[in-house]
Amino acid sequence: MEFHISNRMSAIRGSAIREIFKFAADPSVISLAGGNPAPELFPNEQLAEIAQDLLKNQPVLSLQYGVTEGYTPLREAVKARLKEKERIDREGDDVIIVSGGQQGIELSTKALVNEGDTVIVEEPSFIGATNAFRSYGAHLVGVPMDEDGMNIEALEKAIEANDNVRLIYTIPTFQNPMGATMSVEKRKALYEVAKKHGVVIIEDNPYGELTFDGTKLPTIKSMDTEGLVIYCGSFSKILAPGLRVGFMCADKAIVQKVVVAKQVSDVHTAMLPQLLAYEFMNRFDIDALIVKMRANYAHKCATMLDAIETYFPKGVFHTTPKGGLFVWCDLGHGIDTLKLAPTCAANKVVYVPGNTFMVDMDKPCSALRLNYSTMTDERIVEGVKRLGVIFEKELETRK
Ligand SMILES: Cc1ncc(COP(=O)(O)O)c(C=O)c1O
Repeated sequence: MEFHISNRMSAIRGSAIREIFKFAADPSVISLAGGNPAPELFPNEQLAEIAQDLLKNQPVLSLQYGVTEGYTPLREAVKARLKEKERIDREGDDVIIVSGGQQGIELSTKALVNEGDTVIVEEPSFIGATNAFRSYGAHLVGVPMDEDGMNIEALEKAIEANDNVRLIYTIPTFQNPMGATMSVEKRKALYEVAKKHGVVIIEDNPYGELTFDGTKLPTIKSMDTEGLVIYCGSFSKILAPGLRVGFMCADKAIVQKVVVAKQVSDVHTAMLPQLLAYEFMNRFDIDALIVKMRANYAHKCATMLDAIETYFPKGVFHTTPKGGLFVWCDLGHGIDTLKLAPTCAANKVVYVPGNTFMVDMDKPCSALRLNYSTMTDERIVEGVKRLGVIFEKELETRK
């Protein structure tokens, strides 16, 4: 049967990353595509201990309906952590627990964006967010990324050139897909531009704690005197993504609408994962776990960058991340990395083609995203080596 698909969903394609996961499921394939945290870092023993205790000793709390805003002690713990780690502590703000940072982005869009309204995104940007904006019929406008974050002049031009600009979506720290970090000057400038034009910012920060050398730049939210910034955070990359526990901090008026939007979507985030996140922080040292993660990813990133320097053709651009999970490369010369992906998959190595992260996904793109968090050192090096051979051949044909 031919199903009638809504306008809202018919324009949206499934994520290429999900498609690539089909290849990546083959254990002989070296996947530099996904964005998953390193599974060996999951504190599964500790979580098992807490889960058993909760289900035996607090069955009603664990299994009964909860409130939409989230488990109160977890909200309080998140507020305290935001204050301590990110200097986020605005009087008029509130925190809601959401089912992953992704839901914070989606519900903010549901609450603030009408069909046809403009949402400004960094280009390239995270496809989970761009697809959330598309699913509400937003008019997406891309602003080019420099190595130190969104180009602020282009941002201001985009705001002036478009009607009904409702949101600016940014991932200032260890951006997905580029691994880039926005400078402090640009963070301040972005906030001032948004304030001048009365546009709300979504600051998405799932990777901020994964800084390799411990350096942390101030969040845009920490500069927010007006309540313009919606801050989305998550336990996915500092605990485990399968828990689906994230949080959002925004002006109370926005949070109130998001609470209603969430009631319609999933009533509340599942209690057991919320309790697991809360009790893990209560009984164990989450900061010690984060320190381990930083060291692991710093090492893997260095391994990947070394391999890129050794095996990629000279002149291929790559970013040098200071944290997070991704390296962005650009082959240039009009190469279409989407077209090259099947050859790479046939050689048992996969990446995410750059077009996935663009506003116009149909336009050929010479860039690609590589992830270093899930493979062993040996496989990272072997994967980059295989890609290097294919890229070299492709570049030869262009000479
Ligand atoms: C930039 C960015 N934001 C949000 C998310 C969503 O994370 P989660 O919903 O698991 O918290 C991701 C996941 O990869 C991401 O890369």
